[in-house]
Amino acid sequence: MKSEFACINRKFVERYEKIDDSEDFWKFMSKPLRPSFRVNTLKASVEDVICSLSDRFEIEQVPWCREGFFADGDVGGTIEHQLGLIFSQEASSMIPVVSLEPKPGMLVLDMCASPGGKTTQIAQYMENVGCIIANDVKYDRINILISNIQRCGVLIAKVTMKDGRFFGRFRDRFDRVLIDAPCSNVGMVRKNYRYLKFWSLKEVYSLSRLQKELILAGYRALKPGGVLVYSTCTLDPLENEEVVDHLISNTDAIVEKIDLPVKGTKPITEFEGKRYSGEVKRCLRIHPQDNDTEGFFIAKIVKPS
Ligand SMILES: C[S@@+](CC[C@H](N)C(=O)[O-])C[C@H]1O[C@@H](n2cnc3c(N)ncnc32)[C@H](O)[C@@H]1O
Repeated sequence: MKSEFACINRKFVERYEKIDDSEDFWKFMSKPLRPSFRVNTLKASVEDVICSLSDRFEIEQVPWCREGFFADGDVGGTIEHQLGLIFSQEASSMIPVVSLEPKPGMLVLDMCASPGGKTTQIAQYMENVGCIIANDVKYDRINILISNIQRCGVLIAKVTMKDGRFFGRFRDRFDRVLIDAPCSNVGMVRKNYRYLKFWSLKEVYSLSRLQKELILAGYRALKPGGVLVYSTCTLDPLENEEVVDHLISNTDAIVEKIDLPVKGTKPITEFEGKRYSGEVKRCLRIHPQDNDTEGFFIAKIVKPS
């Protein structure tokens, strides 16, 4: 399996041998993802949607998200999907918003929002009360964001097109900030091998620099007592623990442990001669073999009151 990956991108394999070289890691990296979806409670109840889908699919609860389910087939072509009753979403990618705990009436910044999987999840937890700034920098990704917001009946999102670093000027403003950062997408390799083809270490270094600036801007914009969640669907420590370490070293940010029924892999506290703050141990690092999902990294950050 590892050799298959090496044929596509040898440098990628050399890098990930330093991150997780277990047989299980390579086995699950090459295994196709189980389809999963989230019920959009802005439009229907979990019970009604599951009852309706159960005549066509075998459905299993995602343990860490009440509205999340695995299915034995692709639900993307169903009428429920077209009507916005469900959103196709990878199971591990439901964790950032569950950890963010947005509530009705809050002001929330979703800094890197397109295509809107997490914006629509935030809106359903806010019960369409409050305000979400759903931002993305890329013009060609704004349309899909707007179309998903409309399909899901989200009424409280204001869509903006800015570089996320722009929001650093709104000091102490938002109750919640989500930074689902642009990343090297290694977790998505199980969905499509093309992510492997485009992976390069140079890109990892460049993304890491951008992610450090985005997290500092997001933290600045967060109210004292507020919660910021930083997440990526990749496993390189430069894009994960190192970014959180950068925030901790430059601010008063506190990392909070994520308490959910989900298996994780120990966060990396030392990599290529660099030692990170012990606080990064409270982050959630998910490798594909942990729960048979996409690889993911989630950090829950609190700004002291
Ligand atoms: C991982 S995707 C977000 C997925 C989305 N949160 C969801 O759940 O559907 C990262 C997004 O960040 C956007 N992005 C890249 N650079 C950015 C920047 N400097 N500021 C804001 N957004 C950025 C990309 O266009 C991309 O849509």
